[in-house]
Amino acid sequence: MSKQAIILAAGKGSRMLSELPKVLHKVCGQSLILRTIYALKKAEISKQVVVVGHGKELVQEEIDSSGVSDIITAIQKEQLGTGHAAKSGLSAATEETLIILPGDVPLLCPDVISGAIIEFEKTSADILFVSFVASKPYAFGRILRDSSDKVLGICEEKDCTKEQKKIKEVNAGVYVCKKAFLEKALDSLKSNNAQSEYYLTDIVGFAAENDYKLTAFVSTNELSLAGANSRAELSVLEKIRRKEINEEFMLSGVSFEDPEAAFIDEGVQIGPDSFIGAGTRLKGKTELAEFVYIEGNSIVQDSKVGAKTKIKLSSTILDSEVGSNCSIGPCAQLRPGTKLGSDVKIGNFVETKKSILEDGVKAGHLSYLGDAEIKKNVNIGAGTITCNYDGTNKHKTIIKEDAFIGSNSCLVAPVEIGDNAYVGAGSTITKDVPDKSLAIARNRQEIKKNWKK
Ligand code: UD1
Ligand code: CA
Repeated sequence: MSKQAIILAAGKGSRMLSELPKVLHKVCGQSLILRTIYALKKAEISKQVVVVGHGKELVQEEIDSSGVSDIITAIQKEQLGTGHAAKSGLSAATEETLIILPGDVPLLCPDVISGAIIEFEKTSADILFVSFVASKPYAFGRILRDSSDKVLGICEEKDCTKEQKKIKEVNAGVYVCKKAFLEKALDSLKSNNAQSEYYLTDIVGFAAENDYKLTAFVSTNELSLAGANSRAELSVLEKIRRKEINEEFMLSGVSFEDPEAAFIDEGVQIGPDSFIGAGTRLKGKTELAEFVYIEGNSIVQDSKVGAKTKIKLSSTILDSEVGSNCSIGPCAQLRPGTKLGSDVKIGNFVETKKSILEDGVKAGHLSYLGDAEIKKNVNIGAGTITCNYDGTNKHKTIIKEDAFIGSNSCLVAPVEIGDNAYVGAGSTITKDVPDKSLAIARNRQEIKKNWKK
């Protein structure tokens, strides 16, 4: 039978103390809502209803970026509790079997979802809920059972007696149920509890009292079911996921100087035999080919790096493409729109922006190359600056093949240096330099003999 998920994602997440809706906070670079959507997709549930409310425009934008096409959103106008949110979701649901889950359980494992569905079908249940035995049950709903272990219902932390607070079996917030059951159960909800909210958890008690077929699916995967309600909880989950990501990379042939000190976003790709030094951050849509060597303390974001390229200490590469066999840094900064061919050398304190440096270009030291097109094998001397900005507009510098730019030159754009042309050190170039010519634009040296008395 076709299934559909209802993700509850309308809450503000008060415990985050944030302007941002809770489900837009991230674990390893990926928002909680996208993590939930992808976990469901991996469990082969692509039909999804997301209940949005707080910050709904922002959440909608994030959902639209997911690339999953079968998602619809339902709006919960006022946040009156998880039961009320489920009702908003139900009004948009079309399938007979519904999986309801919170949007703030970022490490939710697809196997837990699939396992719950299999158990739901096997036991012909009207409703199944997922529970687990928590090492720290605080803040979770507790599972109430009678002396023969029959489930009686779920009690929220704030409604628990002292005795009930000692119960360690808690509610994961994940349910599988028949639509017909859910309709009836949600209609029965009341908000006479400590938080004056409509609790979704009360559907379990409703099932028990009214003799519906109720299944408890006790999962042993505690980590997968932890919620992220505060920044502290989020940081714990971030650490767990970071460790997993780095372990996956090590299993695929990537070396780490210190796997606890490498911060790699979900979805980053790294080729085998690459080396990741301590303090490296790989973010967004970054792809490293094989044998890439990153010394450490560097950040590579939304960039591609070719095979055998070496990134030396403390370099920044943003929204750029780097070819193979290049050497970058230490302390280089490749800003957005930089495109390097292969065998390019970018040395210390060289900054590039929106520039193309073709194969074999060398800019070894202390330069700024912005809005430049630099052809093959050009040598850029230390301290060369492209003066690309006149205070209003940006202008282009073109340097053709095999040209040699002497140290400390200012290239005032728009300007073109011909192929095999030379620029003498210390020149301020304001006019185009023809092919194979030498341009010198600096004061002649004077010698005043015996100047010191
Ligand atoms: C909930 C459960 C608790 C369970 C825990 C597991 C209830 C009453 N409690 O508590 O038993 O142990 O999850 O993680 O269900 N939301 C809405 N609209 C609302 C309120 C909440 O969409 O009006 C969404 C939130 O955005 C969130 C999810 O529902 O994604 C869960 O809400 P939250 O307030 O975090 O519930 P918990 O206190 O964690
Ligand atoms: Ca929660």
